[in-house]
Amino acid sequence: MVGWFSRLVVAMTVRMPKWFVRWVSRRYVAGATLDDAVAVMKRLSAEGACFTIDVLGEEISSMDEAKFFLDEYIRVMNAINQHQLDANLSIKPTAFGLLINPEEGLKNIRTLVAMAAENEMFVRLDMEDHRVTTDTIEVVLKLHEEGLTNVGTVLQGRLHRTIADIEDLEQRLGMNADYRICKGIYLEPESIAHTRYDEIVEATNASISRMLEAGAYVGIASHDFPVINHALSELEKLGMGPGKSDPRTNAAPQRLAKGPGYEFQMLLGVRGPLRRKLLAQGHRTRVYVPYGEKWYEYSIRRLKENPTIGAQVAKAFLMPWTNRP
Ligand code: FDA
Repeated sequence: MVGWFSRLVVAMTVRMPKWFVRWVSRRYVAGATLDDAVAVMKRLSAEGACFTIDVLGEEISSMDEAKFFLDEYIRVMNAINQHQLDANLSIKPTAFGLLINPEEGLKNIRTLVAMAAENEMFVRLDMEDHRVTTDTIEVVLKLHEEGLTNVGTVLQGRLHRTIADIEDLEQRLGMNADYRICKGIYLEPESIAHTRYDEIVEATNASISRMLEAGAYVGIASHDFPVINHALSELEKLGMGPGKSDPRTNAAPQRLAKGPGYEFQMLLGVRGPLRRKLLAQGHRTRVYVPYGEKWYEYSIRRLKENPTIGAQVAKAFLMPWTNRP
């Protein structure tokens, strides 16, 4: 259940002037332009981090908007190459048109993934709300069938369906299965998702274990100690870790500038000390870098979708020692 404090912060923030929201979100969003994102990545490269870039924006209302996202991601790919950044792409399938025109949406995603393949770059399909879970997974399966294996999905620990999805993907993709696993930001109904914190952590951890055992590449996307500690102990059990090549006989060889079978992933601006600690221990650690003109809509939508973020943001400002960038 979302607490009253979170709701209060959300209610207050959405009524605040734009400059205030900009001031709050500036730590979580690289800026309005691709140059801003490149500057942030250059700065964080010095810490040894790698990146995944997200052009802000989600569900669209016309296919013309999808064209904007395709073109912008092509610019991102060129910038990654030009600046020799250790980075890949994260895209929102609905921004490519998956919800309004599934066929055209798939075509747009295919165009980007094929160009990325030529550049030996990986593309992650972010997972949005339950309306597109099946379609997003289907896009990944279809592209793999066509020989484009530089693409992977995100699964959300909170959804009841996730273990079944892992089993299905395991069957169909074998050692090419490549996931980001997170708790899931969308507050889904009880009929399809866990809603209590402890249940969500337990389910997310069960998914991590299952993915690792199945030989998949696993991007562990969390800032939460019980999830990270669980992942660390599972990695140790399997003999995986920094400086070791992946010992799992059911895993694919390392490729596409990935880690030895796993990596940690964190959002820009969140729990920097933890990220730096994992990096110092030698774990490949990827920072999710959102940028774009739509930073305001993104910030407000995220707050409305999951008011607990409001409390986390307030906590970061009021008690900065709990969450430094
Ligand atoms: P939790 O929410 O318990 O956070 C642990 C601590 O981290 C908090 O107490 C706070 O200190 C800090 N923290 C976390 N989030 C913060 C924030 N936004 N601002 C300030 N502090 C914060 N979800 C989804 O549905 N689809 C997706 O594709 C993705 N993709 C994705 C990529 C990456 C790289 C990450 C890290 C996360 C996602 N998510 C996502 C979001 C994810 O599902 C989840 O909502 C958040 O990561 C928060 O969950 P944690 O596991 O971090 O725990």
